[in-house]
Amino acid sequence: FAAVDVIRTKRDGGALSGEQIDWVVAAYTRGEVAEEQMSALAMAILLRGMDRAEVSRWTRAMIESGSRLDFSSLPRPAVDKHSTGGVGDKVTLPLAPLVAACGAAVPQLSGRGLGHTGGTLDKMEAIAGWRASLELAEVDAQLRDVGAVVCAATADLAPADRKLYALRDVTGTVESVPLIASSIMSKKIAEGTRALVLDVKVGSGAFMKDPALARELATTMVALGTDAGVETRALLTDMSTPLGRTAGNALEVRESVEVLAGGGPADLVELTVVLAREMLDAVGLDAVDPADALRDGRAMDVWRRMVAAQGGDPDAPLPVARHTHEVRAEADGVLTGLDALAVGVAAWRLGAGRARREEAVQAGAGVELHAVRGERVRAGQPLLTLHTDTPERFGWALEALAGGVVVAGPTTGRPAAAPALV
Ligand code: URA
Repeated sequence: FAAVDVIRTKRDGGALSGEQIDWVVAAYTRGEVAEEQMSALAMAILLRGMDRAEVSRWTRAMIESGSRLDFSSLPRPAVDKHSTGGVGDKVTLPLAPLVAACGAAVPQLSGRGLGHTGGTLDKMEAIAGWRASLELAEVDAQLRDVGAVVCAATADLAPADRKLYALRDVTGTVESVPLIASSIMSKKIAEGTRALVLDVKVGSGAFMKDPALARELATTMVALGTDAGVETRALLTDMSTPLGRTAGNALEVRESVEVLAGGGPADLVELTVVLAREMLDAVGLDAVDPADALRDGRAMDVWRRMVAAQGGDPDAPLPVARHTHEVRAEADGVLTGLDALAVGVAAWRLGAGRARREEAVQAGAGVELHAVRGERVRAGQPLLTLHTDTPERFGWALEALAGGVVVAGPTTGRPAAAPALV
């Protein structure tokens, strides 16, 4: 094969053959197809799409670029959750120990944040001593002993995707249903769990802002998982406003621990329990009610053991940012707008995320919400607290929030004033 012929086929709207796909993915992973050629092919796929057979073959080729894990010998059924990413989405933290407390094994191979979305590993690293990198034997032992693991994916899990994702990130080729579906599902199928529940986010803070596209992404991923023999289900959930009341690493750990202690914001608790039910049902453990395991402290016990098993101290105080800034409502009214993307970008700019892969994040940075969308607020009431170690970033974060936080007048229903961003 010649890469240029594969590119031309897709550029002109044709379907790639199975052999073309196998070749181009393998040759790219080996470095024999150049970055500029794969970048042209990714753009052709974004513009022309792929049919069901092509996406399925592309996913398989990415799985075969690396090795597959196998959790079938564990005494408990293994089940996994994946979120397509959002703002304040810390669900993995309470969910993994919760589902383990109900009898399943939960290997959560997770990633770091990039851009405005947070990453599970960055959040967990806010806990003193906690270690993200585990050997496969450690993962296996922890699943047998504790039932839940949150750790970094091993380098040989779908290496083609690792390379391709980094390329897509800088070539404007992320937002393609076949490319996102195959990227996510190659990693999830290679993980080798029996079942998988997908939390597909829709709204301003998500990759997929359009509900029809989010549905198409969900349907495509469910088909890919099912074809590979993984019991796969998907939920479409709202990401037009942040989940819970915090966005930022240590802030999100604190809120997750509140949920595990039986408290926490209602939207976060609800999503955690709904996803837990779905995961348990998918592996036939539907007799257990996860809401009970949250209430009676069983999930908290697993959390503490899970953190400690990876070197973390569950009792250590969480890092706190050195500087805070309050954003207050300028007028009485209703908080009609609290945009997920605006809050996510603000948290990122405060230091919760990174602009380049090699940067470090600030554990204490982020945004704390004191009111949620739809709530009545009074003039002068604090709406948000911004946290950072680098106060020169406040202005930059406030710029991101402008227009994203809207208080509407009580009589007109029209935006009366944006909060004082000072
Ligand atoms: N997450 C992934 O793993 N891949 C994508 O393409 C998008 C989100």
